[in-house]
Amino acid sequence: MKKLFVTLAICLGVLSNADAKNLTVYFSVSGNTEKLANAIHENVGDDIVRIEPVVAYPEDDYHNKSFTELAQTEKSEQVRPEIKDLDVNLDEYDTVFIGYPIWWGSMPMVLYTFFDKYDLSGKTIVPFNTHAGSGAGDTHDEIVRMEPDAVVLEGLPVRGDDTESDLSDTVKTWLEKIGK
Ligand SMILES: Cc1cc2nc3c(=O)[nH]c(=O)nc-3n(C[C@H](O)[C@H](O)[C@H](O)COP(=O)(O)O)c2cc1C
Repeated sequence: MKKLFVTLAICLGVLSNADAKNLTVYFSVSGNTEKLANAIHENVGDDIVRIEPVVAYPEDDYHNKSFTELAQTEKSEQVRPEIKDLDVNLDEYDTVFIGYPIWWGSMPMVLYTFFDKYDLSGKTIVPFNTHAGSGAGDTHDEIVRMEPDAVVLEGLPVRGDDTESDLSDTVKTWLEKIGK
């Protein structure tokens, strides 16, 4: 009888693992994080979706003073810019790869809107980001703080300039390291 239960448990485990799905979600204004997101999605498969603010940020103004000041004000005032509903049902996914650029040492405030809006309890979160020298900043701790009932794995920070090159080796090495 015990053997039967063990066999059943293994079969259920295999079945539920076969149903396990990956979602890659990202926010990107000038395209660096999008390239990293695509490289991750190519490896892990299933679905990919972009976080879109209702009021888009101006791509051509990205590194100008007015834009950087806007981002800084949003951070200091803890603004939650409205985002469009994601075109996926998060309930379907076990693992959510979540990507963003670093703005002022942190996640852009639209990511805070995302974590306020979607409950990722019980899921595995895998952060990735692009930056110009700050690495991941405070972002991994912030994600753990905002999603206390999720498992947050070691993230992948990549320099924005490096997204011009082929990212597949970097991504594969990281995925192997975190067991994905
Ligand atoms: C408003 C703003 C603030 C930024 N702050 C930082 C920062 O604090 N540290 C850093 O390393 N890079 C910073 N960057 C650079 C971006 O993180 C980097 O260019 C990133 O790759 C852009 O991603 P994207 O092309 O996906 O939008 C900042 C860029 C902007 C526009």
